[in-house]
Amino acid sequence: MSCKIGVLVSGRGSNLKSIIEKSTSSEMNAEVAVVLSDRKEAYALEIAKKEGIEAHYVSPENTNPILTGKAEDNYINILKNHDVDIVCLAGFMRIVKEKIINEFKWKMMNIHPSLLPSFKGLNAQKQALDYGVHFAGATVHFVTGEVDGGPIILQAVVPVYQDDTEDSLSERILEEEHRIYPKAIDLFANNKLKIKDNKVFIEEDNGQ
Ligand code: GRF
Repeated sequence: MSCKIGVLVSGRGSNLKSIIEKSTSSEMNAEVAVVLSDRKEAYALEIAKKEGIEAHYVSPENTNPILTGKAEDNYINILKNHDVDIVCLAGFMRIVKEKIINEFKWKMMNIHPSLLPSFKGLNAQKQALDYGVHFAGATVHFVTGEVDGGPIILQAVVPVYQDDTEDSLSERILEEEHRIYPKAIDLFANNKLKIKDNKVFIEEDNGQ
């Protein structure tokens, strides 16, 4: 049976788009069941609706960057009503805390545009350029209480060139994001991700 994904978004939705594309091309053993946004004007909502996927703006209730209280309950209830097996944060600009994380323990992933644990938080690509690293990248990780701090599922590396701007580096990283996020979801859907000592181990195919 196909794994049901709930996706939380806030913006343009390019990762959502890549997840939908892979899931509808049968490359992935999962389907997007519902998309929720904390911003009414998020283009991601349009992307989902065009594909016939249920998509809603769910008010964050206040300007607090943390998802809490009634808003948190609303998100949990909708995700549970859709029986989602996994929750994917894809450019969701709110910090999620214990209640929703525990509700979907080891079933919530995030994508971050850096090679974690370097450059957590906002403007990761700018942080990388400012630091002068020669390689940057993207990370898919499980969500735990620490922002951008959960066990790493997949990473991809890209070179940083001397004449890179924030835009050019972001674009190069984004291409990799679109490749590894669906791959991580597919590994989850096929029960290939095992967690031990707070680390993720990927089970190899044994040819059977
Ligand atoms: C991506 O760079 C992702 O890594 C970060 O937010 C951005 C979302 O972009 N968490 P999009 O909305 O998926 O295009």
